[in-house]
Amino acid sequence: MKIGVFDSGIGGLTVVKSLLEHKLFEEIIYYGDTARVPYGVKDRNTIIRYGLEAVEFFKNFDIDLLIVACNTVSAYALDEMRAQAPFNIVGVVEPGILAAKNALKDSNSTILVLGTKATIGSGAYETLLHAHGYGNVEAKATGLFVPIVEEGLLEGEVLKSAMHHYFAKCETPDAVILGCTHFPLIAEAISGYFGHQALLIHSGEAIVEYLESYYGVKENCEKTLLKFFASENPDSLKAVASTWLNLSAD
Ligand code: DGL
Repeated sequence: MKIGVFDSGIGGLTVVKSLLEHKLFEEIIYYGDTARVPYGVKDRNTIIRYGLEAVEFFKNFDIDLLIVACNTVSAYALDEMRAQAPFNIVGVVEPGILAAKNALKDSNSTILVLGTKATIGSGAYETLLHAHGYGNVEAKATGLFVPIVEEGLLEGEVLKSAMHHYFAKCETPDAVILGCTHFPLIAEAISGYFGHQALLIHSGEAIVEYLESYYGVKENCEKTLLKFFASENPDSLKAVASTWLNLSAD
């Protein structure tokens, strides 16, 4: 199966990493809109417009499925994108909720949702969690984590102060939904902040579970052909991809 993965920038590579670890697809075409990242501070109309432009981009590649790795786009633009796309589109919000549901049998569990300002402002995670019976949900916009990850500050004082800034008043939740492409890269630090007592839900892992359950996708590709595109500085995106995904030069 040949698929596309779309993100506002480099963060969606965390989703590609999970797809590769599970050997799900023959070919993955990744497109990061690096010229216009971050999306998480933009408004609904802009996010939808960018999502529709991504659909146009992927129309050139004859893909079977498009994974929208970006939580912000997943929260706002999927309906509009699906209406214009000749391929299936899967976002990351619903898989994240289903992963939470599989992991948390008690509907009184406390869930902390982290995401960009736009994702949290959309209420997408809270609405779906409430619809699935989870009432103890706190959603927090933690946008500072995005540039911190982009700067490679995956541990240390800057990250610690940002976590203190955001979490000082939070009780340790039963689960944390990492509702942003970048946050899996600081999962260890977030887990450590909460004394490793909270279960962390990662979009990449959640989408693998979702594709296996709902799209019948199976682990069967020994090799995946990867192609990377970016709206700005494609070489820099390729360099990050080769580090994050441990790609060899061939
Ligand atoms: N990809 C975005 C997300 O998952 C984070 C970066 C951005 O703000 O564009 O919400």
